[in-house]
Amino acid sequence: MKHFAIAIDGPAGAGKSTIAKMIAKKLNIIYVDTGAMYRAVALYCINRGINCRDKESVEKILDQINIKILYIDNAQRILLNNEDVTDRIRTQEISQGASDVATLQAVRIKMVELQRNLAQNASVVMDGRDIGTHVLPNASLKIFLTASVEERANRRYKELIQNGIDCSLSKIKEEIEVRDKNDSCREFSPLRKAEDAIEIDTTGKTIEEVVNIIISLIPKQFDSINNN
Ligand code: DC
Repeated sequence: MKHFAIAIDGPAGAGKSTIAKMIAKKLNIIYVDTGAMYRAVALYCINRGINCRDKESVEKILDQINIKILYIDNAQRILLNNEDVTDRIRTQEISQGASDVATLQAVRIKMVELQRNLAQNASVVMDGRDIGTHVLPNASLKIFLTASVEERANRRYKELIQNGIDCSLSKIKEEIEVRDKNDSCREFSPLRKAEDAIEIDTTGKTIEEVVNIIISLIPKQFDSINNN
């Protein structure tokens, strides 16, 4: 069977990871969270006191970074130099750092290679910012998820509070706006809807509604996957 790929792009907090995870589970295929890779690079830099926007310093240490993706009980775990950092990359500092290292071309080249290898070996639901435009231009289905800034800030706030991370809603909204700008205005592979992507505004929609819309959009020739 030909490998199948769903590309889900969109701004921070649009619901990509929650929705992509559910689709992967329903279709029994792999979920690849590409943001986690940029987050792991940011963690490495921050731990060494390297400014995530400092191109020369980040490029110098890029060879020291080895990122691996593992699947344990169907959940993605991310290893940074063989250490599981999955639970340490969800802070606001790392979010901003990831957005910063993601502006650097050398970092993107390294991450994209990893991402394409994963999609070559298995059927995937991959989420990020440039999956439909750059990483998997021939993806079987491309989705661009959006939601209002207010809704995205609210969701991120609830998620962080649930994870026991103290935060302020207005600060999160500000940080999302900064990240939107950073991710959309960068020179290399900016956040952009692919021409052949289907845009879904998730504002006011439940997760299940969005998942069902996406599943209904899967091209007919992949119906056997849909029946898993
Ligand atoms: O999806 P996320 O919030 O975990 O992503 C963290 C940052 O990584 C995001 O602000 C931009 C960057 N990113 C990217 O540039 N390209 C991707 N494919 C995924 C994430």
